[in-house]
Amino acid sequence: MSTIGDTYLYGSGRSDHDRLRVISEIHDGRTRELLRKAGFAAGHRFVEFGCGLGYVTRWAASEGAHATGIDLNEDHLMVATALADEAGLTTAEFRSANIYEPGLKPNSVDMSYSRWLMVRLNRPVDAMRAINAALKPGGVMVCEEADVSAVYTEPPSAAYADLRDICIEGGRQRGVDYSGGRRVHLWAKEAGFEIIYVDAYHPHYLTGEHKGFWNWTLRAAALGMVKEGSLTATRLEELVAGMNMADASPDTLIAHCRMHQLIAKKPDIKV
Ligand SMILES: C[S@@+](CC[C@H](N)C(=O)[O-])C[C@H]1O[C@@H](n2cnc3c(N)ncnc32)[C@H](O)[C@@H]1O
Repeated sequence: MSTIGDTYLYGSGRSDHDRLRVISEIHDGRTRELLRKAGFAAGHRFVEFGCGLGYVTRWAASEGAHATGIDLNEDHLMVATALADEAGLTTAEFRSANIYEPGLKPNSVDMSYSRWLMVRLNRPVDAMRAINAALKPGGVMVCEEADVSAVYTEPPSAAYADLRDICIEGGRQRGVDYSGGRRVHLWAKEAGFEIIYVDAYHPHYLTGEHKGFWNWTLRAAALGMVKEGSLTATRLEELVAGMNMADASPDTLIAHCRMHQLIAKKPDIKV
């Protein structure tokens, strides 16, 4: 798959599954803290949009929620379901739908969650409106979204900086905003939410298996651009060689994207 925006840039298959597993390893601890801060409770009707392999949905079910994971990608959903079955989670279900038309009963959901989804959509405000419609009055939307422009290295690697900027510009030309994490509160407000909480965190690595995650991620994004003809394979090879050098250097600090966190509430019905 090589499209972008309301369809999805990365293909499925083994390396995409690995990428989603690593996202879970890097972010799930903070996600759980954020969901608890937002008032997550056993018995909640919880929906994760763009659930990928369903790590957060399964966690929510294991904590006693009635949890639904929604995604466009059937292959991801198959794996997510198999992992839930393996864990004996009877209150986790996975369903194929587009976030714009999730097929959920209006006013039925206590808490929604999405991570790394809005920055990949052409119409994030409409997506949030769809979430708003599904939430109960007073229900809570929790989002964690990236600002990819925050990826940097020290000492500076021109290859990292160039591929980061190429990918952000490629996204912009297709109407998606990879730096949109910083605007997620504005999108939520426009979609009718009351903003409860914002914060951001920024993982940095000098060593370890997660250090090269953005090398891998930017490369996967750029492969779509090579297929479309907007980047040459030779240029991408040069950039990957430069990023590999930065990853291999024990003195090079690699900063991942900054993750923006949002808790927002659907207003209560006024009586
Ligand atoms: C980067 S992955 C993140 C997955 C998961 N949220 C996580 O953090 O591990 C983005 C996910 O959003 C899904 N997605 C993209 N566009 C979508 C849409 N319009 N409706 C529903 N899911 C979508 C993709 O299939 C993919 O599984």
